[in-house]
Amino acid sequence: MAESRPDTSPFRLIQISDTHLSDRQGFFVANYLAAAASINSLRPDLVVHTGDLTVNGVERVPDLDFALAANRVFSAPVLSLPGNHDVGEEPGFAMMAQPVTQERLDRYRDRFGPDRWVRDLAGWRLLGLNSQLLGTGLPEEAVQLQWLEGVLEPADGRPVGVFLHKPMFFARKIVAGRPAEIIAPAGSRARLLSLLLRRRVCFVASGHLHKYLDVRIGRTRFVWAPATAYRAGLRLGTGVPMLGYLDYRLWPDGSFDVRAMRPEGMTLQKLGKLKQDAAFLKDAPRASSADVQRLRALVKQVGNAIQSTQ
Ligand SMILES: [Fe+2]
Ligand SMILES: [Fe+2]
Repeated sequence: MAESRPDTSPFRLIQISDTHLSDRQGFFVANYLAAAASINSLRPDLVVHTGDLTVNGVERVPDLDFALAANRVFSAPVLSLPGNHDVGEEPGFAMMAQPVTQERLDRYRDRFGPDRWVRDLAGWRLLGLNSQLLGTGLPEEAVQLQWLEGVLEPADGRPVGVFLHKPMFFARKIVAGRPAEIIAPAGSRARLLSLLLRRRVCFVASGHLHKYLDVRIGRTRFVWAPATAYRAGLRLGTGVPMLGYLDYRLWPDGSFDVRAMRPEGMTLQKLGKLKQDAAFLKDAPRASSADVQRLRALVKQVGNAIQSTQ
């Protein structure tokens, strides 16, 4: 992956995703703490969270508050983006009857800051998008798209990387690092994909599928981050089911590399067992309050950590 690198030290960025934290269902807090310890040991410049911060932030404010506190265990600044578990589902992808609403978006923004952002850092332009708006028809969807068109092409030609929760497509098969057949949802998602390809962004980084993948279309790399919470099914589509996070190094000339990290101390849990008879994780019985206390104690102890403001 590493071609010739400029003689400068790279910008170190960590992407975490799908941490699914809750003060009520604390199944995944131990994995989160293991990932956070590993991430802090790398001393990154920035942590980007690509969403599904919570188990049920859509309906439970305490889930949002707990996930926000959890961001403070990192020694680096954190930029977050919302997932379907945090602000709701977009039409066409609704499984839990939890649509995105203005009220849900506001609750997220009140805590984590804007659900889209732009940062010019280390010679790069990094963009965060709210994938949950796509296809909603909410006024915010058009506003985001218009904003994106304005920020996608920096005047100084610097390289661009994009983060969002949901991937832009599924791939049936990967051949030589390229998706052989793309399944891209129609409408606004397809339009966004073609816009990103046309503008030749360097990478599009997503979460949601709880799998790791790194493929290329044209000049753009599409990278899926694994979850820290739980792993996707082993035999479902492309991508590597694993627990962990992604470690990026960015150089100002647009070169970059991405490593999938599997920190020690993360445990695989069977979703069926956690949910017991419930249809969804959000309805699972209360669990693991000791881990919840452990995280709260750590946040108190390292209270000087920064939640990046927008
Ligand atoms: Fe998720
Ligand atoms: Fe998701």
